[in-house]
Amino acid sequence: MQTIYLLQGINLIRVGKREPVVYGGTDWSTAHNELLAWLNLYWPGVQLETCTTVHESEAVAFLYRASDDPQSAGVVLNPGAWTHTSLAVRDAAAGVSTPLMEVHLSHTYAREAFRKTSLVAPLCMGTISGLGWLGYRLAIQALLAQQPA
Ligand code: DQA
Repeated sequence: MQTIYLLQGINLIRVGKREPVVYGGTDWSTAHNELLAWLNLYWPGVQLETCTTVHESEAVAFLYRASDDPQSAGVVLNPGAWTHTSLAVRDAAAGVSTPLMEVHLSHTYAREAFRKTSLVAPLCMGTISGLGWLGYRLAIQALLAQQPA
């Protein structure tokens, strides 16, 4: 069975409570359940492995795990603030062979200047920014579209 890996980096666990004007009012647990239901409906042969963490080392280990899994169809990666700061997450992303899709809930390019630099973007197939939780579904579709039929 193919597996999509989904990495929620630092502070993403707070979405729903955190700056709802920027990130929306839907929390991760609700969004996750909706994502699973959607996946089950449209891609019943695909499973979702998620990691929501505030620990950089856990995020790095998760990327390795995804890459070492022969069933991996890729990683949906929202590193949160690590996007802009973490050489460790960037280097882990550079060192894996599974495809990566970068996603941000908010439109990072329309926000503060420091959010316009993504250390992981050059290592990803693409970036989806500003579409809220819909971005996760689109990123999964992009990864699955790369898979042989
Ligand atoms: C974010 C954007 C980042 O700039 C920010 O640090 C986050 C969330 C997003 O999903 O919009 O924590 O990754």
